[in-house]
Amino acid sequence: MVETIEYDMLICGSGLAGLRAAISAAKTAPNLKIAIVSKLQVMRSHSVSAEGGTAAVLFEDEGDTIESHVYDTVKGSDFLADQDVAERLCVEMPREVRQLDHWGMPWSRRKDGRIDQRNFGGYSFPRATYASDKVGFFEMQTLYDTCQKFDNIEYLNEWFATSIIHDGRKFMGITAIELGTGTFYSIRARSLVIATGGAGRLYSFSTYALSSTPDGLDMGLRAGMALKDMEFVQFHPTGIMPSGILITEGARGEGGYLLNNKGERFMKRYAASKMELAPRDIVSRSIMTEIDKGRGFKHETGVDCMKLDLRHIGDEKIKEKLGGIREISIKFSGVDPAKDLLDVRPVCHYMMGGLHTNIDGATEIQGVWAAGEAACNSVHGSNRLGANSTSECIVWGKITGEQAALYAQNQIESAVYTPWPHHLVVAEEKRIYDRIFRGSGTVNPYETRQKLTDTMNEKAYVYRTGTGLAEGLREVRRLRSEYWKHVDDRAAEYNTNFTNVMELDSMFRVAEIVLIGAINRKESRGAHARTDYPKRDDEGFLHHTLAYYDPREPIMKKYPVTITKYKPVERRY
Ligand code: FUM
Repeated sequence: MVETIEYDMLICGSGLAGLRAAISAAKTAPNLKIAIVSKLQVMRSHSVSAEGGTAAVLFEDEGDTIESHVYDTVKGSDFLADQDVAERLCVEMPREVRQLDHWGMPWSRRKDGRIDQRNFGGYSFPRATYASDKVGFFEMQTLYDTCQKFDNIEYLNEWFATSIIHDGRKFMGITAIELGTGTFYSIRARSLVIATGGAGRLYSFSTYALSSTPDGLDMGLRAGMALKDMEFVQFHPTGIMPSGILITEGARGEGGYLLNNKGERFMKRYAASKMELAPRDIVSRSIMTEIDKGRGFKHETGVDCMKLDLRHIGDEKIKEKLGGIREISIKFSGVDPAKDLLDVRPVCHYMMGGLHTNIDGATEIQGVWAAGEAACNSVHGSNRLGANSTSECIVWGKITGEQAALYAQNQIESAVYTPWPHHLVVAEEKRIYDRIFRGSGTVNPYETRQKLTDTMNEKAYVYRTGTGLAEGLREVRRLRSEYWKHVDDRAAEYNTNFTNVMELDSMFRVAEIVLIGAINRKESRGAHARTDYPKRDDEGFLHHTLAYYDPREPIMKKYPVTITKYKPVERRY
């Protein structure tokens, strides 16, 4: 028998967007019973790994403007951002930085006591607000502490949400497995915010936590929502070799250089005015071009890489402002950045795509919102600027939390009653237990996962071709057709075999959409660089991509871009 529990509002995901949504909802409607459902413990959410900054305009008295932040974001996006959404981000964000400050966020400060900001790629003003190089960790701590002030927020930590229950139009609840006991639950609720983060573990060389798989995206997709712009995957220029752990853009913001094997700061060839602080898509492409022209280095693992030089920044400043990456470099690569060069290479770091939402974060199912990296409200278009992601989580966490709370309250007040569809829960239980848990097969699902993520790395990396993407798609489909869907460990408690197979199941559907979107987009725009179509093509492709679920293959559609003030022009830096 399926256990059923009830809340008024659910938030799936306990990262920055989820926690900010919880605070906003709890403030908006103090009587609501709110639960945060997360497959992790709160402080293991991947948001804790954010390093370098949170973008906001704080120094208007020194010349920064909201308009400049909006334009930098739109230009950085290669003009695929919805401009009204970019404007909302930039207008809302200064207040949020101060709000975090009041809640206890230990922002790094200038000598005069004002909150400090550093340079980041693609901005016309130093606008990345920081806390040494552990921004995400401190923001998470601040939001989690603040959540403790609200008695109406509960935590279902280590619960794996499996599906959304709805009546075809309107949200009714979710199903989830409590990982500690293996119990399958249905959770009835009035509204939901999906804040399950990005899916960067689709790639094997990745800055993401191993838990960053597309379960939340897939849950929305299977429920009938579109995934938008999934072909745009961000490769951060500086993943340290060999692990891929992030070396923050803040390292270049504090003055670090990229060097090729001739000892040149090669960025002068690609972005003479911004150099190492050009947007990420440009810096990553420049690194790969240098490597292709034989000007890279061979790491001891045999993989090509480039050098990041921080030595001139000096030991003292590195310890003060870049203490986290200093520790990462020493512990994971054996290099002290004050003394030696770091081996770095573009690494999967962010997905511009996600669940299609409007400017308020509302999805296509009534009663469901999405925020943070799981959402695609189109604020970043085809290339996100560094430090705009934590900002997005915070702004849309707040907005969606409020909207979802008001909606739930309204449903309760108007005594809306919808009979609970037991048959859907039974069908979901069958899908999970009969087709996955009790599935059979001889193929090792861990090996399948490795092959899938290696394929994505090889075929849908910084530079792409139609042929390579088509090969990638064929390989992903071939792997999916093998007999990997089985769980050998039959334990009920903390069955990580089971979670791995459920994650892999979602990875296949979403990987396919990334590849099909990339094949269809026969142009180069932002993070999507096709060597067979090297130019941006506004006539053919100035549109978003939507992908809907169909068991045979995804249904692809186009969706218009909102352009308010800024006509697309060629991007130069
Ligand atoms: O480089 C970084 O610190 C990453 C920041 C971001 O992705 O926004």
